[in-house]
Amino acid sequence: MNKPNFFRIAAVLMVSSGLIIAAGCTDKGTDKPGGDTDGPKNVENGGTPSPGSTTKNVYDLVIPVGLEPLDIPVDNPLTQAKIDLGKILYFDTRLSKDGTISCATCHDPKNAWAEPTATSTGIAGQIGDRNSPTILNSAYFESLFWDGRSPSLEHQALGPIENPIEMGHDLQVVVDQLSKIPGYQVMFEAAFNGEGVSKQNIAKAIASFERTLLSGNSPYDRKEMDESAQRGEKLFTKAGCQFCHAQPLFGSDKFHNIGIGTKGEKPDPGRQTVSLADDDRDWGKFRVPTLRNVALTGPYFHDGKIATLEEAVNIMASGGIENHNISPMLKKVKDAKLTDQDKADLTAFLKALTGDIPQVEAPEMPK
Ligand code: HEC
Ligand code: HEC
Repeated sequence: MNKPNFFRIAAVLMVSSGLIIAAGCTDKGTDKPGGDTDGPKNVENGGTPSPGSTTKNVYDLVIPVGLEPLDIPVDNPLTQAKIDLGKILYFDTRLSKDGTISCATCHDPKNAWAEPTATSTGIAGQIGDRNSPTILNSAYFESLFWDGRSPSLEHQALGPIENPIEMGHDLQVVVDQLSKIPGYQVMFEAAFNGEGVSKQNIAKAIASFERTLLSGNSPYDRKEMDESAQRGEKLFTKAGCQFCHAQPLFGSDKFHNIGIGTKGEKPDPGRQTVSLADDDRDWGKFRVPTLRNVALTGPYFHDGKIATLEEAVNIMASGGIENHNISPMLKKVKDAKLTDQDKADLTAFLKALTGDIPQVEAPEMPK
């Protein structure tokens, strides 16, 4: 093997092992930034989190092909110890009041980190009224939730724990409970330099884990789309879908009314409940969801009422659902007068946005 070739392969191995670390997997490997030549070894090194990990060990996040560099908040640098802890918290049903629900219940790794039901069921079988979005790539958004009421993953993470119909717990009680579990004591000490269990540290650890849940490297990113998907890509631009579903996430932090649910009995006011605008300008507006992995994250829209991707594309390609506050940007979509073949091509394009899904198994819970 000649040298240039060897270096290239080494680089590829490093990238793929990095992806596995980023995905969490069973790997709790090195904390060393860069990884260097021992990169591939990380894959086999399935040990337990090392108490030696401290905030000094900055984690080398691998950005999948097609995504942009990710901003990490300065007050919550990524470290292996925090990611390991956040992953356990993410799967721990003890964060819910009756011990039955974890974050993974509604954002299930086996369902592309979303949920296959229209809306979510929390503790005691209570049903919410919005669809649970995938948390893949949610690290890039600055307006979280369908109505954008949360500005960061750190801010967001504590919400579901106290939400009465999701996990329904009291945060101070959660902090007290976790503080009594020796396994957690060790991990919090390691991840937060002796600070121990606190609300903020629970949020920081979960947010750190979520930042590793990135998904790219789709046929679109690799430029390996079939002809139908290639036609779909052109139509996506021609019809103006990309003005709202902007690259590279094919989503954005902006809010638009496309009419979903507005004909129902009790329409969800969406953004209006957050902005508290005194007129209807924000009524029925929702954040533009990412279309990466959309083929895997049905059912669709904020109310989860649309079962198939074909139907979702059909609604969007027809210019949304007419109502008094519909986005004027949908006129361009309507005017494009997309045919059935066009819609099939658009669907093929959206299917080509399915990327590598981080595979993570539920870890063992600390005792
Ligand atoms: C009972 C189901 C349920 C549980 C449990 C749950 N979530 Fe959610 N999650 C949802 C729903 C539903 C939404 C959308 C709610 C909305 O927009 O009002 C959501 C939204 C989110 C978002 C925003 C994604 C985006 O693109 O805007 C993130 C991030 C998230 N949840 C993370 C978590 C974390 C972390 C936990 C555990 C601490 C958790 N969720 C527990 C159902 C759940
Ligand atoms: C004016 C902005 C805008 C335009 C233009 C637009 N969309 Fe959307 N799209 C949205 C918003 C906002 C939502 C979420 C609405 C909701 O759930 O109420 C959405 C949702 C979707 C969904 C469902 C995603 C999910 O996870 O539930 C698909 C699929 C979709 N759009 C495809 C398209 C296609 C294809 C086009 C072009 C034909 C398009 N959109 C044009 C704003 C837009």
